[in-house]
Amino acid sequence: MASTTHVVIQANATPIYADVDPHTFLISPDAIRRRITSKTRAIITVALYGLSPDMDPIMSLARQHNLLVIEDNAECFLGRYKGRLAGTIGHAGSFSFQSSKHMTSGEGGMVITDDQELALNVRRVCSLGYRGVGAGKAKLQRTDIQDPDYARHASMGWNYRIPELCAAVALGQLENLDELVRRRTAAAELFQEAVGNCSWMTPQKIPADCTHSWWTFVAALDTNRIGWRAFRDAFAANGGDGIYAAWRINYLEPMFQERKLLGRERFISPEILESYRPGLCPVAEGLQPRLLQFKTNYWNTNEAQQQAEILAKTIRQLS
Ligand SMILES: Cc1ncc(COP(=O)(O)O)c(C=O)c1O
Repeated sequence: MASTTHVVIQANATPIYADVDPHTFLISPDAIRRRITSKTRAIITVALYGLSPDMDPIMSLARQHNLLVIEDNAECFLGRYKGRLAGTIGHAGSFSFQSSKHMTSGEGGMVITDDQELALNVRRVCSLGYRGVGAGKAKLQRTDIQDPDYARHASMGWNYRIPELCAAVALGQLENLDELVRRRTAAAELFQEAVGNCSWMTPQKIPADCTHSWWTFVAALDTNRIGWRAFRDAFAANGGDGIYAAWRINYLEPMFQERKLLGRERFISPEILESYRPGLCPVAEGLQPRLLQFKTNYWNTNEAQQQAEILAKTIRQLS
């Protein structure tokens, strides 16, 4: 999902892509190891579709090379990795409250960290570099703003603050988060059952020590057996509902191929710009056109049950 790339480019840094594991569809620690150089500063892991990547070897690589780890948990609320909550393992974790996510405030999100200095820097970057931002009571006094010499801006920053109205909605959603995740999990379990032992559709593999949070239920299609669009059409003809393709591979998008990086392409070396082409991450490139994403946000379990039955029927028809 391209936001993880955008944020690197917005920081005037260079995105380096590491390939994924063919079974979990998630970033592979071995692939990361092969891409680390003396210029590497941070690793962003993505809990894609709601499942945490294999964090232990990634954290150990980070310690070895003195790198920061940021967990992109936009799609993973209450997911677990070896008993730990996904998003609490790296130095910071980010969550999205955009409208398709487990909990939403329309737009917005949050960053979590247990590093005070990092927290302050994140707040400042999100808030025009204000010196007075903080988690506790505002540090700004009336006398400060009545002082013409008051120096507000400790650093440069953007206005990425979540609006207070959205934050209020997010707090309400947070109270229901267990239930919101439970409903998605129930839908995903029904889909999983519907796929059963189908030889030409393979769901995302969930390692035994992980808990999936099921933003979507994803399976790889054997497209030698049946084409993506042919499957979609058969599913839809039976009354199937939300089904999405996986995002195209970021570096193959026109933004890279046509160098449309809003001037920031000058921060990326010509050799790396040149490397953004087919073959860079062969496993991800092979998987992406085969992935089916089924939505899991059915408020009504009967509706999810009906969709799972339609999936099972479609598989039977095409087998
Ligand atoms: C994996 C991933 N990262 C980042 C984002 C961006 O989150 P937001 O839309 O809140 O900026 C999203 C979805 O929107 C996402 O799915």
